[in-house]
Amino acid sequence: MSTVYLNGELLPSERAMISVDDRGFLFADGIYEVTPAYRGAPFRIERHLDRMRRGLSELRIDYDPAPLVDVHQRLIAANGLEGEEVSIVYVQVTRGVAPRAHAFPTTPVRPTVYAFAKAFKRPARAVWEKGYSATTVPDRRWARADIKTIGLLPNCLALQAAVEDGTNDALLVRDGVALEGALNNFFAVIDGAVVTHPATNHILHGITREYVLELCWESGLKVEERPIQVEELARASEAFFTGTTTEVRPTVKIDGRPVGDGKVGPVATQLQDAYLEGVERASPPRPGDSPR
Ligand SMILES: Cc1ncc(COP(=O)(O)O)c(C=O)c1O
Repeated sequence: MSTVYLNGELLPSERAMISVDDRGFLFADGIYEVTPAYRGAPFRIERHLDRMRRGLSELRIDYDPAPLVDVHQRLIAANGLEGEEVSIVYVQVTRGVAPRAHAFPTTPVRPTVYAFAKAFKRPARAVWEKGYSATTVPDRRWARADIKTIGLLPNCLALQAAVEDGTNDALLVRDGVALEGALNNFFAVIDGAVVTHPATNHILHGITREYVLELCWESGLKVEERPIQVEELARASEAFFTGTTTEVRPTVKIDGRPVGDGKVGPVATQLQDAYLEGVERASPPRPGDSPR
């Protein structure tokens, strides 16, 4: 049984009840956020809360996410996750409860705020080293993919298409451009540069994407933020997805064709290692570790 947060209270998950008139249920009128925690310490939580602030403001939902920093810590503690190498905290904010009508409620309603925390199992290094595969899927989402809305049906359908194709990730394609994954951002190494789609309205501005770009700049890798034509993937030496639950995931096959030599490449390896070092530095020591 897990302990969750609902509208100001920590309570057992089976006691957490949401109204059938909640606009999140009726219209997917809300946003969500997923923040990783490493040995109980939320990583880059301020960046996640900033993205949340921006989404709330775009949707005109009146909620200040600042108190959520404390909610993250309380959920991690209440669920005994301080010692977990990786856990995630999920937060969802909807416009609230009102009789069903498309336009916003005319009298102010209190947003519904729900959150839970759970352990996350990072894949074994041996699995990671074999690499992953992806399937290209048409991007059927709306033109505000930069807002992390709970309306994820096109993402679910895209990932299901990948699963039914026997691959790990969906690579969303719009007008011949490889944008991002169903739940992660996409990078390719082309002509020696690390290339990823610019942070426009057609992709989610991933916090991991942003961190991986910083890691590229720090290590002197050449970076290009520009659209990637699907045809260019034929000459990419590497490809990888990034995300909170993806970290840096190397893609060695897209639509059945090998990427580069079909093996996990040096850039993905360097970036995943740098990512792991970065989160290690930001995490509390393990019991018995010598002081840093
Ligand atoms: C469509 C999409 N792109 C990218 C990401 C990666 O974002 P982040 O690195 O903040 O997890 C996500 C995460 O859920 C996503 O849903």
